[in-house]
Amino acid sequence: MSDDAVRPTADRHRPVLFQQCIDLLAPALQPRDAGPAPVLVDCTLGMGGHAEGVLAQLPQARVIGIDRDPQALELAGERLSRFGDRFTPVHAVYDEIGDVVARLGYAGGVQGVLMDLGVSSLQLDEADRGFAYAQDAPLDMRMDQSTGQTAADVLNTYDERDLTRVLRDYGEERFAGKIARSIVRRRADRPWERTAELVDLVRACIPAATRKTGGNPAKRTFQALRIEVNGELEVLERAVPAAIEALAVGGRIVVESYQSLEDRIVKRAIARGTTSSAPPGLPVEPETHRPYLRALTRGALEADAAEIERNPRSASVRLRAAERMRPTPEHLLGPAATRKSRTASTARTTRTEDRP
Ligand SMILES: C[S@@+](CC[C@H](N)C(=O)[O-])C[C@H]1O[C@@H](n2cnc3c(N)ncnc32)[C@H](O)[C@@H]1O
Repeated sequence: MSDDAVRPTADRHRPVLFQQCIDLLAPALQPRDAGPAPVLVDCTLGMGGHAEGVLAQLPQARVIGIDRDPQALELAGERLSRFGDRFTPVHAVYDEIGDVVARLGYAGGVQGVLMDLGVSSLQLDEADRGFAYAQDAPLDMRMDQSTGQTAADVLNTYDERDLTRVLRDYGEERFAGKIARSIVRRRADRPWERTAELVDLVRACIPAATRKTGGNPAKRTFQALRIEVNGELEVLERAVPAAIEALAVGGRIVVESYQSLEDRIVKRAIARGTTSSAPPGLPVEPETHRPYLRALTRGALEADAAEIERNPRSASVRLRAAERMRPTPEHLLGPAATRKSRTASTARTTRTEDRP
């Protein structure tokens, strides 16, 4: 058993921008004079650090904790058990947020959504999951090990062009073509199985002068494979708009991204809501074209030097947050979302009393 396996869960992960997330969500999660308790959906429960902070500091709030990793749900469930039925764990992929809240009786909207993207330190620390280039392990990299293709499947089946695209687009790897060619050539001898073999191959593909800067040369290849294996960017493209749609008026969303591709998706979805959709030149902005979100951060919030010193993972964080001002105008919703929002209003009137 590794040291990590015996360290208490709370010590194994320090949530990034912990207090800032809670402070941004808090105004939306205050007790209300009438009606049910305010609800936060933590879309990336992980080890429950952020969720624990919300439950401890905002005693009226309930938390629905989503994670696609069953192991994270189990550990966070133990950590949060003292909060009883104020915490509800859900095994799901976060783009299913609309269905999750509807199923739990909150189709009328929740008051908060938190997304702390990427992998957890639990996933990085568990050597056999294959996320870490520093430890030799099977090439798995699935956040949910019960389903989907592994990193080995990608390396053993994608053609050179697709491998180049993955490494270039998701890893921003300058030597994507050379690495992809070597991956394909090497698998003619024997299939890809272990992370250490991949680290060696990437190192051999990168010129010595470049290797001297920028940390482990395999870092970008590992990031690219992880994103591909878990379909992270496609899921996020669907999830951010779905999370915004899950918010009631007055509800708040906070998203922490750790690389530019994620942050671009988040930035775009928030900008869509904070910008008027009226055609330019109209003398009066029609009500239906007014922004439906209000940005709560100027650009993106970053970690300060003290936090980066304590927790190097926070160096790359970009936090964006927004508050819902009004429902999304119908002309900005796709046909499926429009149908869903109509069903949601019906659900709201029939299910309110079901809420715990
Ligand atoms: C950075 S960790 C979250 C840490 C958490 N905020 C805490 O305080 O412990 C990200 C978590 O999100 C989960 N995750 C990533 N992508 C997901 C997705 N598409 N759907 C559901 N969970 C996801 C991962 O399995 C991981 O446990």
